[in-house]
Amino acid sequence: MSSQSWRVGEKEHEYLKAVLENGFPGSSSVSFTGRLEKLFAEKFDSKYAISFANGTATLHAALAAAGVGAGDEVIVPPLTMSSTSFAVLHCGAIPVFADIDPETFLMSAKSVKERVTQKTKAIMPVALYGLCPDMDAINAIAKKHKLAVIEDDAQCFLGKYKGKVAGTLGDMASFSFQNSKHLTCGEGGMVTTSNLDYAEFIRRFSSLGYGNVSAAPGKSKINKSDIVNPNFARHVSLGYNYRLSELCSAFLFAQLERLEMFVEWRKKCAAGFAEAVKGVSWLKPQKTPPECENSYWAYAVKLDTPDVKWVDFYDKFMELGGDGFYGAWRLTYTEPYFSKIIPDKHAHCPVAEVTQPYLMQFKTNYGSEADIKRQAETLQKTIRHFDK
Ligand SMILES: Cc1ncc(COP(=O)(O)O)c(C=O)c1O
Repeated sequence: MSSQSWRVGEKEHEYLKAVLENGFPGSSSVSFTGRLEKLFAEKFDSKYAISFANGTATLHAALAAAGVGAGDEVIVPPLTMSSTSFAVLHCGAIPVFADIDPETFLMSAKSVKERVTQKTKAIMPVALYGLCPDMDAINAIAKKHKLAVIEDDAQCFLGKYKGKVAGTLGDMASFSFQNSKHLTCGEGGMVTTSNLDYAEFIRRFSSLGYGNVSAAPGKSKINKSDIVNPNFARHVSLGYNYRLSELCSAFLFAQLERLEMFVEWRKKCAAGFAEAVKGVSWLKPQKTPPECENSYWAYAVKLDTPDVKWVDFYDKFMELGGDGFYGAWRLTYTEPYFSKIIPDKHAHCPVAEVTQPYLMQFKTNYGSEADIKRQAETLQKTIRHFDK
């Protein structure tokens, strides 16, 4: 049994079986996709939730809905998975990198303000590791300059900012269901918004520009009566086939029913690691400001001493029986492809540059007290080794 099998319950099997037994009858069947979107919208306090094949396509669609196109600029953080910036490029626009806050590791509103130009069209804050950035400050900048705000909440499920759930803080928000996320179906994504125009655009964008789809739950396909008509005109705009499959929706619906439980386990794991690093002056965990609730996709810690190398810490953690941790992604603008195309003036984030190499991302997807205890104790032993 793999250590991740706890994430798959009886309902996942039951709903998948229902899809298989139904035999993919066509577009008019009652769908798990519809049930999934309805429940997601409810749980994330949004009027609309539109499912996607992944959490990169979601960003592409949300940016397109905001009218982002060739030559526009979109402000993004450099410390994130590169999909955030790829989606900007998919629209023909230019990612402009704002620096991060040294304590929260999140895009700093002060830096965002400095990056706004006549060409800026949108801001895409990332709720990195499960923590929302300072959204009031970011929204104020957006309002002043008439910019769209798209939350990249791929890593943030039920994280909160001033009591509001992530997904309701900007104009639109994007979630991912890739393997490592709080909820998964292998690959998948969701956009939330409470704006009908955005929602209708996003649905059409994800569904090959079909004219008769809608933002309503599951309404991503053409009716049977229309399909059979040889004169039926389908495509009213440019679209992609970004839809989530019914099998993935069924699996994900079962996961979504247990969302709160998955988030609680993440928080318990984080609490175990937090206890282990408490009082250690040379380890700086991601700071969660009092107005935020971190949903802990990962427990991130900065190694803040010249005396211990990242790789030595990693090796010792493994040697002592740890389950491993991840380094942070290279800053997006330093990735080979991006460094070729991003002008130097858009790629200078000194705080991110002295933070990224020293970050350790501890996994929080353990589903037993014993596993959590083991990882936290191993971290403690590793710390003691270097503290000597
Ligand atoms: C912050 C962030 N944005 C976007 C994505 C892209 O999501 P996906 O892998 O579902 O395309 C991910 C993760 O995978 C992510 O962590």
